[in-house]
Order: sequence, then C-alpha cells, then structure tokens
Amino acid sequence: MENQILDGKALSLRIREEIRLEILTGLAEGKPRPGLATILVGQDPASEVYVRNKRRACEAAGLVNEHIELPADAGQQQLLQQVQAYNEDPAIHGILVQLPLPKGLDYDENQVLKTILPEKDVDGFHPLNQGALMQGNLAPRPCTPKGIMVLLKEAGLEDLSGKKAVVVGRSNIVGKPIALMLLERNATVTICHSRTKDLEAEIKSADVVVAAVGVPQLVRGEWIRPGATVIDVGINRGADGKLVGDVDFETAKKTARKITPVPGGVGPMTIAMLLRNTVEAAWN
Ligand code: GUN
Repeated sequence: MENQILDGKALSLRIREEIRLEILTGLAEGKPRPGLATILVGQDPASEVYVRNKRRACEAAGLVNEHIELPADAGQQQLLQQVQAYNEDPAIHGILVQLPLPKGLDYDENQVLKTILPEKDVDGFHPLNQGALMQGNLAPRPCTPKGIMVLLKEAGLEDLSGKKAVVVGRSNIVGKPIALMLLERNATVTICHSRTKDLEAEIKSADVVVAAVGVPQLVRGEWIRPGATVIDVGINRGADGKLVGDVDFETAKKTARKITPVPGGVGPMTIAMLLRNTVEAAWN
C-alpha cells in the first residue's frame, strides 16, 4: 500500500528539472533569464530555512536570485524602499518578501504586499491577484495552493465534481486561496477553523482534506473517511525536534487513499511553483 504516499518531493524534483530545461530553451531563443528577488527580514529560523531552500532551487534551475537580508528593526520604510528598488529593476521578474514579518515592530504586511508590482508578485499575495483568483481570472496564484492542485491532479483528482473538500484553516496564504481553487474544480467546499463546532464530523464527510492550521496532529486518523485524499500543509516541530504535520500521519495513512507526508509532501511543491510563477512572470 506504499503507493498511497503522495510524494511531493519526487514530483517537485521532476517539475524543477522541467523548468531547468525550459529555461535553457528559452535562453537559446533569446528570452531573458528569469530573476527572483528574495527579501528576508529578521532571523526567524524557520523562515531562514525556507528562503535558503527557495534560493538554492533558483540556482539549480538557472534562475537569477538576488537576496537581501534586513535586520528585524530595519523598519517599514526601509523594507518598502527595497521592494521599490526591485520593482524598478528590469532583471528582476519576481519579488518575494518572506512572511511573517517580525512581530512587535511597525511592519504593515498588507502595505508591503500592495507595494510589490502585481506582475512581479510571484507569491500571488497582492490584493489585485487575490481578487483575480476570486473572479477565476488569470494572475499569479499563491504557490502552496497551486502546488496542492498539482498534487491532487497527480492523485487522479483533476476534476472534483461531486466531491466534498474540507479545508482546515482560513489564512490568506493557504486556506482561503485553496478553497477557491477547489471550488474552481467543482468541489463542494467547506472551510473549517478554530471556531468550527464539530471538526470531526466535517472531516468524516470529506473526500479531500486539506489541513493548514499549524496545530500538530490536530486531524486524527480515525476521522479520515476510507478512500479519502489527505493533503497536510502543516510543518510543526514536535517536542522531540521532529517535524510533524497537522494530520496524525501514521493513523491517517491506514484509511486514506492518498496522503502527503511531512516533510516531503506539500513543502517542496511550494518551491517548484515559485519557480514556475517566476518563469511565467519573466516571459508572459
Ligand atoms: N510564509 C509561509 N509561506 C510563505 C510563502 O509561500 N511565501 C512567503 N513569502 N512567505 C511565506
């Protein structure tokens, strides 16, 4: 039953290799080399790891990566000036400000996201791009939900007509956009969150579960309907230092038809989609 594991690591490596080859072809045709700017503010250890992995993936696929690290107390103005500089830089096609910004200082995340030119917003977080998603229009889409949709397609779930999808979590980065994308594929979508009355009953009715709440192993394996597909977006560090998802993997994999592991499921797909969004921003 091992083929029930939805291996995001392997799939992302295939996609990254495709992108590397596309870039070689594009360069030979005279297209510009796609460039991604990454901005990291402060020293959050998890953010440092995520950004390092994104930068390495850029380099391996042949994208340009410009990277800036600002001290936690750099302040909103300095951050906005850096974003503006990349907005004006023709060699940079995508701009990524790693979130969350340091807490307790004067950062205004919404203003930062609004300052990135919508066409360079490879995270898909600009309000214009989020609005385009809501209207079903073409625009850069957030990388994690985009990667989840590729994983579902890989699991044979391209069309979700007649299927019930339950999303746990309502963030702007994952919960809300993935709900819209599932809806676009004709799923019947329920969004659950901390105030949901009976999470267990909701999950028990789901053909597709997307867990993106950041609560370690909140979703119990016994709640998974036999044959359901489970996408675990959570990356939590347990007391023993090991990474665990929002789903209790060991019990859930007994009933799920397909399930993503943590690590090695959704995380690597996010990076592959970031590269894809940057190539599209450069060439379209
Ligand atoms: N923090 C967690 N996920 C993401 C992401 O996809 N992009 C950025 N910029 N920050 C994040």
